[in-house]
Amino acid sequence: MTARSINDCRIIQLPKIADPHGNLTFIEGNNHIPFEIKRVYYLYDVPGGATRGGHAHKALNQLIIAMSGSFDVVLDDGVKKERFHLNRSYQGLYICPMIWRVIDNFSSGSVCMVLASAQYDESDYYRDYDAFLKAMRRQA
Ligand code: TYD
Repeated sequence: MTARSINDCRIIQLPKIADPHGNLTFIEGNNHIPFEIKRVYYLYDVPGGATRGGHAHKALNQLIIAMSGSFDVVLDDGVKKERFHLNRSYQGLYICPMIWRVIDNFSSGSVCMVLASAQYDESDYYRDYDAFLKAMRRQA
């Protein structure tokens, strides 16, 4: 496994077809984002003050988009932390494997959509922060 850092994560500007009748954005796997899309899931009806995430993935690539409203994603590679505020449906935050993430500051009615490079697999998760740190140090 290659060591990864927050520097491998970034905001991706997605295509936006602006139209007076409404805007349109589209995403093609392996074209606009650096992985094939195998799964889509979304968070909604998130109560005020709630926090999601709190884990890292061993191999999964993800793109997080604020489809409606806004929220923050805090990325942590074990050395550095960075907070991203997402509030545009034509921007996605690409998260490479081995990055701890927490999502908070959800606005009322917000929808967080996630595109993922693999189907759900619990064995791909680090849910314990110390275990994640140890794995990162082993890679470094
Ligand atoms: P989790 O990934 O911990 O959610 P979040 O990071 O948004 O806080 O998943 C929450 C629960 O949902 C957990 O029991 C696993 C289940 N789940 C699936 O069954 N399939 C999925 O694709 C996802 C993302 C989660």
